[in-house]
Amino acid sequence: MAQAAKWTETRVRAIRDVTHDVREFEIVPENGAVLSYAPGAHIDVGVMIGDAPQTRSYSLVGMPGGDCYKIAVKRVAPSRGGSAYMWRLAPGDRLRATEPKSAFAVEFGRASYLLIAGGIGITPLVGMAQMLAKRGADVRMLYAVRGERDLAFAETLRDALGDRLELHIGRQIDFAAEFTKLKPGTLAALCGPIPMLEAARGAWEAAKLSAADLRWETFGSSGRMAAAPFKVRVPSHDLEFDVPADASLLDALRSAGIDAISDCRKGECGLCAMDVVACDGEIDHRDVFLSPEEKAHGRKLCVCVSRARGVLTLDSGWRPDAI
Ligand code: FES
Repeated sequence: MAQAAKWTETRVRAIRDVTHDVREFEIVPENGAVLSYAPGAHIDVGVMIGDAPQTRSYSLVGMPGGDCYKIAVKRVAPSRGGSAYMWRLAPGDRLRATEPKSAFAVEFGRASYLLIAGGIGITPLVGMAQMLAKRGADVRMLYAVRGERDLAFAETLRDALGDRLELHIGRQIDFAAEFTKLKPGTLAALCGPIPMLEAARGAWEAAKLSAADLRWETFGSSGRMAAAPFKVRVPSHDLEFDVPADASLLDALRSAGIDAISDCRKGECGLCAMDVVACDGEIDHRDVFLSPEEKAHGRKLCVCVSRARGVLTLDSGWRPDAI
């Protein structure tokens, strides 16, 4: 389970564009207390989507020890609303945020490290690369982006890693080749879209490496199909409603009065998984919790990130009269 969130009032101190669609925010707590954190940690921030308050998680960029928290937000189109809200912020604006929470970390003292980033997945790895390089660790980074203009924090990474930074611009990483040449005891940390993680996990398993030595985090917005509205039925509650393209199924369920539980909201923990009764269309699984077999059977769905096309019929274990 996630650590209990401790919320605090903060102010946006500065904003800068890191790429054409990635914006960095410097955030300072009103009480001035910038806490230390492990590289890879994140904060949750409170955003407004329409009239509804919601939470979004953003990795802290860079090493701890500064006088502010730095996060970087990619403008997503279509957005579920979080990135659009963040991109409307201006210096001086207030923002509710949690203290740093650590769910993606590497321990020090390993023989070597391989950091793997895909797109905006670079954000938690910047601080890891800096920290490992500072400690003199044997570390390499593979950083894949669609095009040159999508490279974020490249100078910072070059300063830390030099030629141990390997850019994959417009080309995929050959995980099988990379993993077969790893030194024994190497710890790999990956942050990227779900297809990248699935490819890496498959190659990691094929190379017979220890599952515990591959750490990962994803951003659960990357599905097979473009986000589009779809219909949901919940017969146990006599409900039928539409999920807009810019809202998650979890948020739509909550708006309809179903108190679905959740934790990570990134398709990783499985807490939000619900039973699928039927799907008149197609499910777009966007989580990394369910196995490929479970996804193929289509009897479960992680509602925080996954979507569907057509009409989805769900069962909810939540019963208002059971409370
Ligand atoms: S809340 Fe963690 S998988 Fe949905």
